[in-house]
Amino acid sequence: MMASVMQILDSVDPLQTEIARWKRQGHTVGLVPTMGDLHEGHLSLVRQAREKADRLVVSLFVNPLQFGPGEDFDRYPRRLDADSSLLGKERVDILFVPGNDAIYPQGTQAVRQVSAGDLASILCGVGRPGHFDGVATVVKRLFEIVQPDLAVFGQKDYQQLLVIRRLVAGAGLEVDILGGPTFREADGLAMSTRNRYLNAKERAVAPQLYAELQAAKALMQAGGLTHEQIVERSIDNLTAVGFRPVYFELRRATNLSVPGETDRDLVLLTAAYLGETRLIDNLLFSL
Ligand code: PAJ
Repeated sequence: MMASVMQILDSVDPLQTEIARWKRQGHTVGLVPTMGDLHEGHLSLVRQAREKADRLVVSLFVNPLQFGPGEDFDRYPRRLDADSSLLGKERVDILFVPGNDAIYPQGTQAVRQVSAGDLASILCGVGRPGHFDGVATVVKRLFEIVQPDLAVFGQKDYQQLLVIRRLVAGAGLEVDILGGPTFREADGLAMSTRNRYLNAKERAVAPQLYAELQAAKALMQAGGLTHEQIVERSIDNLTAVGFRPVYFELRRATNLSVPGETDRDLVLLTAAYLGETRLIDNLLFSL
């Protein structure tokens, strides 16, 4: 069968017409939501979705609701040409690039935001109030528009992945949420659009964030030091090489609550500034 050409659509009606046609033909639909400036991490999710669904929609929308005042909404990279040529090679059926009015027909001020619940106010939510509500709001809206059978999100944004799983469970939506492993540069730095903001000196230091997660995990698995001692040591190490850590914490992998003595499925999560750039990373492991 000939590979079909990717369509680029910016409004809801033609998108839904096409999706309805697919569904009448009995095809399953996958969705990969993104904010663009795509890298191999995004593409790995696209490939995962491609394997699981008959038809694939990738959305690209820089969602104003999830950026706080003073954050990088205005300077967030917008590179539609480069993104669409990358996706054109991935057998994507539709690239959906809505404007604000397609996503928020009542305007961003009037939109009734979806609450991301308890998970919104911990870890990344502490320094970014409203961020996860903004994410939950746009993802729910995208699910409403596309009605996908499955959607893929990166474990790189682990808290976001859990917010979305909870959103789906809470609203009883019939969409399978799949997590994709974190794609990394050769030196371990998790791929991220925000890595572009790093200068050469910062970029050289940046892989230490993941190295420190790995070191902390190894120490926890080895036993000997308490988890608190290990976390403190990691924060000191990161600070010593030039990071300003926002948090470095051990949590339960299932729900990000604080683990007890008997918990085995854990995740170390961290956010830290390097200069003006805020980086995040995490590491799942078991004891
Ligand atoms: P964005 O940062 O563009 O990321 C889109 C998807 O790619 C997310 O699911 C994210 O977790 C995943 N991703 C990013 N870096 C990755 C990496 N190195 N390896 C694997 N996956 C990676 O996350 C968002 O956009 C937005 O919040 C969104 C969900 C689109 C809602 O606006």
